[in-house]
Amino acid sequence: MTADSSRILVWDWSVRLVHWLMVVLVPLLWWTAEEGYMDWHRGFGLTMLGLVLFRLTWGLIGTWTARFVPMVRRIGTLTLYVRKLRKREQGATFGHSPLAVLSVFALLGALTTQVATGLFSVDVDGLESGPLAVLVSFETGRWLADIHEFNFNLLAGLIGLHIAAIAAYQFVLKEKLAGAMVTGRRSRTDFDAGKLPDNRLRLVRFIAAASLSVVCIVALASFG
Ligand code: HEM
Ligand code: HEM
Repeated sequence: MTADSSRILVWDWSVRLVHWLMVVLVPLLWWTAEEGYMDWHRGFGLTMLGLVLFRLTWGLIGTWTARFVPMVRRIGTLTLYVRKLRKREQGATFGHSPLAVLSVFALLGALTTQVATGLFSVDVDGLESGPLAVLVSFETGRWLADIHEFNFNLLAGLIGLHIAAIAAYQFVLKEKLAGAMVTGRRSRTDFDAGKLPDNRLRLVRFIAAASLSVVCIVALASFG
């Protein structure tokens, strides 16, 4: 077996690119809101919305490790996984482990809530608002802005937990998860012998998911 074929693709490049763009955008979104650079905040916010939309679509039509149905199925093995984890016998999972699935759903849920509420948010004096705030009353816009603020704290807490979990896997359990989110690959020998699911990226599906996101961002940007 060549060195190349012994490295298996776990995360396709679009999953990795979306992930690391999110990592860059979250601090920028917090900072622009804190400093009152609201034009930038809306711009970065719409970019984040595009990424979230792409990731949700990719969860339906994307590569095997990105898809939600296999992830939901994996939750069924959560108790067994945690039992093995306590004995440090969990082994590698092709894609998200049952525990990681829970954190992925929590993170994507919090990110979706954040971008959705941002679209309708309005500030106290009505000067700054999301592009769809005109569709709701001022009171509703304020209420959604309160959720936007509260949910950010929730999102920050989840991100803290996410990073702590990745660090624990990396340094305590010696499972190099972070490297795989960079290169996309893990050693074939990490996984049990046997056939792994087909995880190839289908270009037509990628173009469909990416186009949907771009169309939505452009429509929202021209609306606001
Ligand atoms: C703003 C900060 C972050 C956010 C919002 C975030 C969000 C996410 C999301 C949504 C996923 C699921 C990936 C997918 O299936 O598309 C994920 C997975 C992952 N993230 Fe992050 N992440 C953040 C920071 C980090 C950092 C700083 C690291 C590494 C040092 C990291 C490492 C990983 C890894 C390794 C996975 C895959 C976990 C697994 O193997 O199941 N993340 N992250
Ligand atoms: C993950 C994405 C986002 C994050 C992390 C984020 C974060 C924040 C934070 C921390 C605040 C300040 C809350 C406060 O202390 O009052 C804020 C305010 C705001 N955001 Fe976002 N935001 C995101 C997406 C969006 C989007 C997509 C839009 C609209 C296009 C948007 C529009 C607004 C508006 C209008 C405010 C002002 C609300 C007020 O002053 O009460 N945000 N955002």
